[in-house]
Amino acid sequence: MTIRALHVASELYPLLKTGGLADVAGALPSALVERGADVRVLLPGFPSVVAGLHDVRPVAQLGSRFGAPGVTLEQGTLPSNGLIVYTIRAATLYDRPGNPYLNDEHVPYGDNAQRFALLGWVAAQLAQQLDPAWSPQIVHAHDWHAGLAAAYLKAAERQHGRAPARSVFTVHNLAYQGVFPAHQFGQLGLPDDFFSMYGVEFYGQLSFLKAGLYYSDRITTVSPTYAREIQTLAQGGGLDALLRNRSHDLSGILNGVDYTVWNPASDALLENRYASTRLAGKLACKEALQKRFGLAQKSDALLFGVVSRLTEQKGLDLLLETVPEIVKRGGQLVVFGTGDPALENGLKRVAQTHPDSVAVELGFDEKLAHTIIAGSDVVAVPSRFEPCGLTQLYALAYGSLPLVHCVGGLADTVVDASLENLAEDLATGFVFEHFQPRGLTAAIRRAFALYGRRTEWKAAQRRAMRQDFGWGASADRYLALYRELC
Ligand code: ADP
Ligand code: GLC
Repeated sequence: MTIRALHVASELYPLLKTGGLADVAGALPSALVERGADVRVLLPGFPSVVAGLHDVRPVAQLGSRFGAPGVTLEQGTLPSNGLIVYTIRAATLYDRPGNPYLNDEHVPYGDNAQRFALLGWVAAQLAQQLDPAWSPQIVHAHDWHAGLAAAYLKAAERQHGRAPARSVFTVHNLAYQGVFPAHQFGQLGLPDDFFSMYGVEFYGQLSFLKAGLYYSDRITTVSPTYAREIQTLAQGGGLDALLRNRSHDLSGILNGVDYTVWNPASDALLENRYASTRLAGKLACKEALQKRFGLAQKSDALLFGVVSRLTEQKGLDLLLETVPEIVKRGGQLVVFGTGDPALENGLKRVAQTHPDSVAVELGFDEKLAHTIIAGSDVVAVPSRFEPCGLTQLYALAYGSLPLVHCVGGLADTVVDASLENLAEDLATGFVFEHFQPRGLTAAIRRAFALYGRRTEWKAAQRRAMRQDFGWGASADRYLALYRELC
């Protein structure tokens, strides 16, 4: 039996991306299609989404919805793989360039509740024959933006006596909860009693994330360790009790890597390509990176790279504290990212203090991200918490040994270069336990120590590059979940 599933998300690589969610939405649906599922995607009609689709045509007129006039559902195809993407055209809600969630001052748009309620509502409508030609058996919603889909499906089930579709909700990051003032509940068109502790109410406010967690048939998150962590008081973001209650419906399925995009042997964004059997090209990537960032051209300086959203989550404040250690040992550091202005300024200051060895650039650019992942010896991901993390997986594929905090998906994917792991040919990177300068410094020292033993370093690089984190196994797990539900 072919399973029909609708993925509901707010971003999708290569159309629109602010983080790893886009990479997942861009790769998981086609991995499911390759395994015989019939999968389509629903996205808000942000300008770059609409501009990037081919063969766009209208599917349904929806009239005035959530304060927006003339809402239309359209469908188009993704040029790279033919995936069918539905988009919601609602100019007053979505026709804004730049970041899909924040305005130019980095402040969430005042109408985000309406903007993303419409997304969840249309998803539930698609499960009720909004498109006469196709309707899903599974609605698979990602993060708070799509959290209301499950609530609207539940409301329809109550009204008609049967569920229009089964629902899966994937938490990519429990820290973003889609919380709005209680008075906005009235605009959602949900039954009154849904505003309850057993529903969308969250400490007196309205939470889209809680809607997804409470009303969906199954909950997944993006690594097994994070699935355990979010059931604890310390890391449950106020939702740990709900998650513990639903522990039988909750599972962790690791994200994968799209090796058609992230492969050093075929990466079109790199000037020099390489493979585990031909590592010379990696040195050329390192030299190009040092040049690009104005660092001293030293081929034997251990080069640490960071490509990251600059937020509290990513732990770069801790990395800043250890910069003197890196510099003292003759190492170099490149940081590329954008986000929190305080962190941006702190990073800039450190770069000014050590111009030959530390470079910081602010921005978001796919080519530069690939350049850094490829040219670094070590990719640092010292996150306070990390649901899965994709940059450490890309780093493994590029033979750039990841240096990570032992949390979430980082703990599930990187093996520390301890003596015993080296002896058993297991090490693929550097892992620190305690989120303190001492722990991180020790991991940095381990990186320098291993770099001093070039044969062992190369062996670890080759091992890292041989790891298979492709989408295959994870797509199979999602399919098994869908089958259970159907
Ligand atoms: P998160 O989703 O929490 O940001 P992930 O590691 O899952 O973390 O995914 C981050 C994704 O965003 C990766 O594809 C990474 O390369 C990309 N990325 C992060 N910062 C930048 C940037 N400044 N420019 C380009 N890509 C970036
Ligand atoms: C979130 C998480 C990140 C994860 C990504 C994709 O943004 O912060 O850890 O890899 O989603 O699931």
